[in-house]
Amino acid sequence: MFIQVSTRLSSPFIYGFGETEHPTYKHDLNYHTWGMFSKDQPPGYKMNCYGVHPFYMGLEDTADAHGVLLLNSNAMDVTFQPTPALTYRTLGGILDFYMVLGPTPEMVVQEYTALIGRPVLPAYWSLGFQLCRYGYANDSEIEQLYSEMIAAGIPYDVQYADIDYMERQLDFKLDEVNFPGLPKLVDRMRGEGMRFIFILDPAISGNETDYSAFDRGIAADVFIKYPSHLGGNIVWGKVWPDLPNVTVNEDLDWDTQVEKYRSYAAFPDFFRTQTATWWKQEIKDFYDKMKFDGLWIDMNEPASFVHGTVGGSCLGNPLLENPPYMPPLESKQMGLNHKTLCMNSEQTLTNGKNVSHYDVHNLYGWSHTQPTYDALLEVTGKRGIVVTRSTYPTSGKWAGHWLGDNNSSWDQLYKSIIGMLEFSLFGISYTGADICGFFNTAEYEMCLRWMQLGAFYPYSRNHNGKGNPRQDPVSWDEKFTEASRDVLNIRYTLLPYLYVLMFESHTKGSTVVRPLLHEFVKDKATWDIHTQFLWGPALLISPALGPGVTVVEGYLPNARWYDYHTAKDVNMRATKVSMITPLNHINLHVRGGYILPWQKPENNTFYSRKNPLGLIVALSDSGTAQGSFFWDDGEGIDTVGGNQYLHTTFSAEGKTLSSVVVHNGLVAADYVNLGLVKVWGAGTVKVTGATLTDYEGLPHSLYVQHNTDTEELIIDATSKAVPLHSPFSIIWRTG
Ligand code: NOJ
Repeated sequence: MFIQVSTRLSSPFIYGFGETEHPTYKHDLNYHTWGMFSKDQPPGYKMNCYGVHPFYMGLEDTADAHGVLLLNSNAMDVTFQPTPALTYRTLGGILDFYMVLGPTPEMVVQEYTALIGRPVLPAYWSLGFQLCRYGYANDSEIEQLYSEMIAAGIPYDVQYADIDYMERQLDFKLDEVNFPGLPKLVDRMRGEGMRFIFILDPAISGNETDYSAFDRGIAADVFIKYPSHLGGNIVWGKVWPDLPNVTVNEDLDWDTQVEKYRSYAAFPDFFRTQTATWWKQEIKDFYDKMKFDGLWIDMNEPASFVHGTVGGSCLGNPLLENPPYMPPLESKQMGLNHKTLCMNSEQTLTNGKNVSHYDVHNLYGWSHTQPTYDALLEVTGKRGIVVTRSTYPTSGKWAGHWLGDNNSSWDQLYKSIIGMLEFSLFGISYTGADICGFFNTAEYEMCLRWMQLGAFYPYSRNHNGKGNPRQDPVSWDEKFTEASRDVLNIRYTLLPYLYVLMFESHTKGSTVVRPLLHEFVKDKATWDIHTQFLWGPALLISPALGPGVTVVEGYLPNARWYDYHTAKDVNMRATKVSMITPLNHINLHVRGGYILPWQKPENNTFYSRKNPLGLIVALSDSGTAQGSFFWDDGEGIDTVGGNQYLHTTFSAEGKTLSSVVVHNGLVAADYVNLGLVKVWGAGTVKVTGATLTDYEGLPHSLYVQHNTDTEELIIDATSKAVPLHSPFSIIWRTG
């Protein structure tokens, strides 16, 4: 119950370990200890929270990077010391270390994900903007919100229903009183190109007289119990589900409400094969009543509103509940079972071996994720997306992750960047925080700045806690609506680029939200930057992160950078830069040498995906650029493995842009044609014409527009119907 190992570190530049909120991306090695144990605990300083990732990346003075995983699922902590050194203490298991040797930071993540599993390829629509809240009163409220969003012309793809849609918060049961029209609304919205995601919690009420989820769960023996020598009964907790026939008085204090209204809840043991089968069946029956496109799994630490079990005293070895050495966890004094199950509960692995919850607690959310993902795929026939709260190494193979119940505060706005950078290291690419914050009332300027930052979260969702005033983009004023529309239009414009990054993450393990140090590792100035981040190698995002900010103090590494908004070379590099940032503006820079695919935005991706594909060709100092494009139907299951996709590369050099088709497996319905090509850094000598040569060698003369002030050249191929799945080249000429 206490295994300690210490090591010198080869450098003081250490990143990773989670899930804990960090004030900086680079760790402070001056005697800081971080506890790791899955917990329903909102992000907070030195607090262990939802997931566990005993993985770090070290970066040495030579700029060589390596990664180290301690594959151990017990409660643990790590202590940094200035030597530099690191001490691990774990409460069980074995010391099972894995090292990946980089030597670049990107290669560390690629190698780490080769080991634990590569990030899931999310459905294209899940890259769209999403709206959610806890506390929608009824289906009309959602319908009204949808109409307001349409009227405001704000791009948006996904609407959620939180536990409000359930009858007394029971999984798979619709609240027929307040949400009777939900199935119809979902059908209507889906008919208009929208998508719907529902929440599901693991805990199942045992107080119902006719509740198939529980009855069939009992029949299939899926619930966590005590071991037989302790009686073998279900270890009951309490979570959201309410007892039948109660009228909840929300004015009562929390503990009284839990005691009076919450039913006894059983926790499925997702390690068992029969549990996955049972879970899939419940999900299928639910889908037959109400369609959905993705699933949001929550409370899977697992969270309970009582400590250990109802009544509070856990059977069995008291040392498992209160071990002699306790890591410095949140509520350390309360024992390991604080707000979760008894550690003496028994779980059964697929190989039939019984283990104590004590040893596998950190794997609960992990074990919940694959069965949910498999069920989603099987039931919908599409790949959709699963978003999970509790994660462990490999979770990214099946799901994305939001950073949990954050505060509506500036502090958590900037820390969300650090959280995302860390999840990039952990092999979970589809991440983001609740835009505008979950707890408390969001303030206007903060929420607006958060909409701007959140427009660059891979998982871009505005979500709000119960009882707080609305904070969605149509709940403020015209200026707010407009700024949200503008920034989301930029996101939607760049979704084809984001999708390429997701494809590369899925196939090669490269990061999507990328720390600057991953691209500019030789430049030590990038080693502790966490207020700016990149999308892949080519798009630099420098958000405003504080009240009253009108100038963002950022850094531009050594490359050519174009201001996304003006298409102009900013002519600054390897230097700190004061970036003017009025309230309706976010600083975005495109790196010279890269080609980014884009599309004109629409209300949602169902429509935007039909637009011609544009390219931004951001030339390097030597007039070259490279890029690629990945396209499939956006939602098919394993289109990559099944070869049902298009992959092309582009390169520009000497006033010629050409494409190479690397893989052509698109079906006709998904063909996409070339649209506007924007060449940035095209020079001041007037470009007078351009010629496209198609795959048959036929020349087409193209309309050009060259602004010799901004040096942007626009070449229009829209009318030529040139499909991306055939190679082409474009030459532009002066004089
Ligand atoms: C906790 C989750 O973190 C939050 O996002 C959700 O709204 C509530 N549970 C209610 O389901």
